[in-house]
Amino acid sequence: MSSLYTATVPSNIAFIKYWGKRADAQQWPANDSLSMTLNQLATKTTVRLHQADDHMLRLGDRIYNRSDKNLGKTFVHLDRLALRFGYSQKLQITSSNSFPMGAGIASSASGLAALTLASLMAWTDSRNWDDLERHGFDRSMLADLARLGSGSACRSLFGGFVQWEAGLDPDAQRYASLFSDEHWALRDTVVLFSSEQKSVGSTEAHELAWSSPLFIPRLSGLPERMNLVKDALAARDMQALGLWLEVEALEMHAVIMTARQPVYYLNEAARQFLADLREARQKGEIHAYFTIDAGPNIHVIHEASEHERLKLWLQRRLAADHLLHDSVGAGPHLDFQSE
Ligand code: PMV
Repeated sequence: MSSLYTATVPSNIAFIKYWGKRADAQQWPANDSLSMTLNQLATKTTVRLHQADDHMLRLGDRIYNRSDKNLGKTFVHLDRLALRFGYSQKLQITSSNSFPMGAGIASSASGLAALTLASLMAWTDSRNWDDLERHGFDRSMLADLARLGSGSACRSLFGGFVQWEAGLDPDAQRYASLFSDEHWALRDTVVLFSSEQKSVGSTEAHELAWSSPLFIPRLSGLPERMNLVKDALAARDMQALGLWLEVEALEMHAVIMTARQPVYYLNEAARQFLADLREARQKGEIHAYFTIDAGPNIHVIHEASEHERLKLWLQRRLAADHLLHDSVGAGPHLDFQSE
């Protein structure tokens, strides 16, 4: 009889971006960030113990091993966890995403968080959160570990609207869900302009942030912006939140485009879309705002009451398979099964 340990972890979309880090080894970010945990866009990872010399990873209909460059991060993360806690048991891992990888929806966030949870469940024979905690893995410890795989993964460990504080030293990083998913039923409609893998991954791009002349001024303005965004969330003020979302996304892209090796994540169609969205908003046709991660896809943030009107507006411009509809969610979910 074998046991199957499953973690389903949603992606998250940052309202205040984590961009640039102070120390690489412990994933110490240059600034505090804040995100909305999503609901449907998620990674589901199932792990069982594997009697073999190495881990095996199945993603979609393909099997990967550690020499595969694209998924190197996965094996590095497993080795890191095994070494730190002394686990020698190899794992068989099956993982699937409900969205395309590496295209600006944080697949590394949900992916590395799901891998952290499911592999630790298997290594410790934990069937739920309480079991994990009894083995020393409370939510904050799990976020610390997920962060080492991919920075933004730590925020996906929590539901609702989540802050990741950088703290005064790498060990003083903290995570908190500031408002639950029930506080404000915000929606995220993702407009896919490309589902290809990114040309420059975020690890490399984080390093380049310091070379942009816009980066230090950005950091000095962020504490105030963070407070304004929190106020807007507390007051459920879409306009106040939305205006900061757009400033924040464009500023991060400005930093990226002015770094020593500039990267242009947005293609022409995406840029045109941003202009159209703002124009329609000004005309009062829709009430929605954009944010963008390090990729070409646009996240359109809006209230639930706006969804139908926005959907019609989007469907007039884009094919349905270019749109993903999601909302704020409650965070990860764990499952155990024996077969
Ligand atoms: O977690 P990483 O290293 O893939 O960095 C993600 C950075 C952004 O998604 C662009 C912003 C964020 O805070 O999620």
